[in-house]
Amino acid sequence: MKSVLTGIFWFTLFHVAAASYHLVMDHSGQNFFNGWNFIDNWDNTTNGDVNFIDQQDATSQKLAYVSGTGNAIIKVDNSTNVLYPNKRNSIRMESTDFYPVGTLFIIDALHMPFGCSVWPSIWTKGAAWPNDGEIDIIEAVNLMNNNQMALHTQPGCSHTTPQNQVGSSILNDCSTGSGCTVAETKQNSYGSGFAAASGGVFAAQFDTSGIYIWFWSRADLPDSVKQAATSSIADTSSWGAPSAAYPSSSCDISKFFGAQQLVIDITLCGDWAGVQSVYQSTCHTTPTGNCTADNIWGPGSPRYDDAYFELQSIRVFSAASPSASSGSPSGTSSGAPSTTLKSAAATNMQWFSGAKTTAQAILGAVWVVVVGAFVV
Ligand SMILES: *[C@@H]1O[C@H](CO)[C@@H](O)[C@H](O)[C@H]1NC(C)=O
Ligand SMILES: *[C@@H]1O[C@H](CO)[C@@H](O)[C@H](O)[C@H]1NC(C)=O
Ligand SMILES: *[C@@H]1O[C@H](CO)[C@@H](O)[C@H](O)[C@H]1NC(C)=O
Repeated sequence: MKSVLTGIFWFTLFHVAAASYHLVMDHSGQNFFNGWNFIDNWDNTTNGDVNFIDQQDATSQKLAYVSGTGNAIIKVDNSTNVLYPNKRNSIRMESTDFYPVGTLFIIDALHMPFGCSVWPSIWTKGAAWPNDGEIDIIEAVNLMNNNQMALHTQPGCSHTTPQNQVGSSILNDCSTGSGCTVAETKQNSYGSGFAAASGGVFAAQFDTSGIYIWFWSRADLPDSVKQAATSSIADTSSWGAPSAAYPSSSCDISKFFGAQQLVIDITLCGDWAGVQSVYQSTCHTTPTGNCTADNIWGPGSPRYDDAYFELQSIRVFSAASPSASSGSPSGTSSGAPSTTLKSAAATNMQWFSGAKTTAQAILGAVWVVVVGAFVV
């Protein structure tokens, strides 16, 4: 009985969201770089010491390419002797597609950019950024050894930390400063440790019931996550407690988040990595202790040899029924939703998430518990 009750508890806490998803976009292999806009500008949003370059230059300068092993490499220029006071070339790319509430993002990485002054991120934002929400799935700076997740919103959204959240909440107001941040507490989520462990997988579920982010180091990947790397179906129902969990009880997701596009970027120094106290907390205090002065100028290697993403895939899944979704995944056929009890439960839960009245919500909750008890 205890395990059934525990099961129901877990089920209701984390699986009110839809659990069954089908593939709508697959960025991997030779097609990884299809469907992105490369920003051609200096970093005027976080004031980093980089020039983001367009796709043609990124390709010819080998800052964005598919490796011999079929993985996407996205990197900071480490082959140019940059002279004072110039900036260093890097990448900021944004998906051309926007994904509505009811989306699951799965990012499989072998290596993330790290090193003094380096500030990478894989995140999502709405079309009218910063007004319609931002989800920071992967973000860290300098020689930190853990990933840090966050939401950024307009005033009115806060983070109530569920008891079972794996990560450690830092700030709870999603509308100010760094947003509502959560530090990963699992091992090897960033930096040299991440690379040495052959990386891992991050997943972000963007749902009316909340926003949930998971991380698994390569050795700890559940079978269902491994399967989602090649299958047209993803099922979150056995994933357990997320690293960061933002339930809609204190942040109305549908109100604060518009459809989101993916962003991948690497900047240097700037408003986080370059803040003197942040910089000096993991990096050199000599010769000047100033992020820009101590890193940007010079040959670039070996300093920026680790400042690259190596990504096996970024796959986007939708909770909507395949016939209702627009567009088909690149190079894959969208599978029909499975008809197992779990996916039937998911359908009811989806209905629960979308309930318009209290009566509907209560009825939905009863469904969730009843069906949950069955599944458990
Ligand atoms: C950054 O520069 C681009 C291109 O000039 C411009 O469209 C955008 O509005 C700027 N963003 C900010 C935050 O200043
Ligand atoms: C760090 O050095 C750069 C480049 O010399 C300079 O523009 C910036 O003001 C310095 N920052 C601080 C906090 O002193
Ligand atoms: C840049 O870094 C890569 C590893 O990321 C390394 O293979 C390459 O030799 C470096 N480039 C130069 C010019 O040293």
